[in-house]
Amino acid sequence: MSTPHNAANPGDIAKTILLPGDPLRAKVIAETYLSDPVQFNAVRNMFGYTGTYKGKPVSVMGTGMGIPSIGLYSYELIHFYGVKNLIRVGSCGSINRKAKIGDIIMAQGACTNSNYASQYGLDGTFSAISSFDLLRKAVLVAEEHGYPYIVGNILSSDTFYTEKPVWKDWAKMGCLGVEMESFALYCNAVRAACAAEGADDASQAVDNSFEDVKALGIFTVSDSLVTGEETTAEERQNNFTNMMEVALEVAAQL
Ligand code: HPA
Repeated sequence: MSTPHNAANPGDIAKTILLPGDPLRAKVIAETYLSDPVQFNAVRNMFGYTGTYKGKPVSVMGTGMGIPSIGLYSYELIHFYGVKNLIRVGSCGSINRKAKIGDIIMAQGACTNSNYASQYGLDGTFSAISSFDLLRKAVLVAEEHGYPYIVGNILSSDTFYTEKPVWKDWAKMGCLGVEMESFALYCNAVRAACAAEGADDASQAVDNSFEDVKALGIFTVSDSLVTGEETTAEERQNNFTNMMEVALEVAAQL
């Protein structure tokens, strides 16, 4: 069984997947870091591969840019392919002086100006948070390697080009960086993980099979909206390598 967006058959995708935005990045990651990668998807050029890392099956697939794109791909990975650990690897812009170019931002939480969570009918503001287990593992790996990292909130923005510098308001609320996807990823993971919670009636059919769905976004700071600094190609590559090391070492523990 495939989906309208993914040609993989059940079983083709590992329980742990790395999710860069760029599908060509997924190809490079598969070819550089995974042993024996096999491509499972090319629908809309959203390339996906499964191989192994330190003996563990690991997949990698592009998500495209923005909340609608990662929203649908991650939903399908969780619900139709049984993926349990979804680790977004990307770049983000720093909106806080503490998050320096070259740092790894680990998104403990993701805020948004998107309407994505309105589907849940909540009478309030939802806090989308990462998996504490994945976050803790990522922090420990970064510490072991001595990679500079910072943990906190980010903004998953619906807009890249904005009429006004909206990031300033989010910076005042402690957001460290801005990207465009993690909020939907975190919503999908937690919604699936809590499929069995909140049933009105004990006799209502509940599904516990998603209980262990976990998500985390980690980012290299590619530019600073605060200072206007940008990374050189060489710096970007080094920073990317550190982030990948963290993501893969986490994957190896799952
Ligand atoms: N805005 C949104 N996403 C980004 C940015 C940005 O400035 N930099 C890297 N990803």
